[in-house]
Amino acid sequence: MAAPTPLKQLAAYPELQHLADELRGASIEQLFADDPARAENFTLQAAGLHLDYSKHLLHREARTALMALAQQAGMDERIAALLAGEAVNNTEGRPALHSLLRADQGAGLEDKFDQVTAVRARMQVYADRLNDGLQLGYSGEVITDVVNIGIGGSDLGPRLVTEALKPFHGNVSCHYVANVDPADLQDTLLELNPANTLFIVCSKSFRTEETLTNSLAARNWMLQAGASEADLGKHFLAITTNLEAAAEFGIAGENCLPLWDWVGGRYSVWSAVGLSCAIAMGWEQFEQFLAGARAMDRHFSEAPAQANMPLLMSLLEVWYGNFFGAENHVVLPYDNSLQRLPDFLQQLTMESNGKRVRSDGGAVDYNTGPVLWGSAGTMGQHSFHQLLHQGTLLCPADFILPLTTHTGMVEQHQRLVANCLAQSRALMVGRSARAAESALHARGMAAEEVARLAPHLVMPGNRPNSVITMHALTPATLGALLALYEHRTFCSGQLWGINPFDQWGVDLGKEIGVEVLGRLSGQSSGGTMDPATERLMQAWQDARE
Ligand code: F6P
Repeated sequence: MAAPTPLKQLAAYPELQHLADELRGASIEQLFADDPARAENFTLQAAGLHLDYSKHLLHREARTALMALAQQAGMDERIAALLAGEAVNNTEGRPALHSLLRADQGAGLEDKFDQVTAVRARMQVYADRLNDGLQLGYSGEVITDVVNIGIGGSDLGPRLVTEALKPFHGNVSCHYVANVDPADLQDTLLELNPANTLFIVCSKSFRTEETLTNSLAARNWMLQAGASEADLGKHFLAITTNLEAAAEFGIAGENCLPLWDWVGGRYSVWSAVGLSCAIAMGWEQFEQFLAGARAMDRHFSEAPAQANMPLLMSLLEVWYGNFFGAENHVVLPYDNSLQRLPDFLQQLTMESNGKRVRSDGGAVDYNTGPVLWGSAGTMGQHSFHQLLHQGTLLCPADFILPLTTHTGMVEQHQRLVANCLAQSRALMVGRSARAAESALHARGMAAEEVARLAPHLVMPGNRPNSVITMHALTPATLGALLALYEHRTFCSGQLWGINPFDQWGVDLGKEIGVEVLGRLSGQSSGGTMDPATERLMQAWQDARE
């Protein structure tokens, strides 16, 4: 694939700067008045999702210029290269074939597709056997609980999917342990009986400190409960590319489900990494989850630029990040079961696009991935929404709203919907000084008091936001939603010219962690670190003594 052209050198860049200057002081409400078809024209449909992006500082001309930017960045060819399995992860010389993990045909990648379907068949066996109560532990009792031990991409996706799709759960409870803090494992094990527990050691590399430490402790817990070494095969599965290391740990080949180096950890929920959530919801539902993502892949590869939802959302990210100086993006799912979505998206977007050099090694001279954060509505309304409405930061928002609830509590759900729509509208319309004054007058306040308080009630509005709706949160719509954000992340990486599929920045901390642990454990005495770290290590020694 051709080396990326730096963003600022793309032909549309100066025009976009000019359009951004023009729109900086514009009123989004005025944009609605100027374009009567806006509410309809600034919407898109894909794979059961509906995107309303009408409440943005964007008009048709700016949208057209953004499309030109994507075209000049070679977006069509780059999307085709991604889906065709070219080595888009150029620093590691690998493809990034998460789309193949949910495909229903090989389309030129038959060898890899055969491997995928073989693993899917094995996943189905586990999901069915566990849900049918046929997997027995060392004492002959049925396995009722599965604990996924993994971190980052080997945890966040399956954990999110399991929590989000509770109404679809079968007969097995799935739990997640990620943190090396022993409290995480201990709290989880307190609720469980070893005789009924299966651990899935989920680690692409099988080298991750947190996962290996927790897995060893889980192994000891099982042995101390009375299981013999020979019984461990009934209680431990591994999901990894590193079958040798899994074997060294004591998990034999027949209990390992493979993963491939052409699947990025944060893009791996569709692979055997998703086994725990496939067990939680049952195989048919997991297939629906894959089908939803596949529908989004099809849309991504076939829809023209202007109708392409992931591309459009990515262009909005670049629009605000590179032309308005936004360094934040907030995701607000108005569905309690999606409360883990911001955590998942943080790894997806920030580990992918938090980079300072382009894929050709040249330093960027523009912002790349913004900080992504958020929480489930309505909780944030009683905490950080104050900053969204009146703070000084520009923080574009994505509201995510299933239009129906599985709870049957329709009246109460109506309140959730009302809150979501109200927040989206309030961010856009704000409250003028005059409206603030008349609200205070209406409370019977004296003129002096009105003048004193009115500035505090003023809300500037024009705070851009999108609303993504779906009929209901189901395995299929959740699959489509996650694939939407994956492809949005890819497109933004292409516009910034960076490789979204490596993560070299995580290594140094791990290396220093090994050195610090050596010092704390007394296994290494050599070397001095900076005075601050030395003092902190001493503080730990003192506390321990
Ligand atoms: O340290 C970051 C990271 O490598 C992530 O990219 C990855 O998802 C996570 O650690 C876990 O890695 P593994 O699946 O190899 O244990």
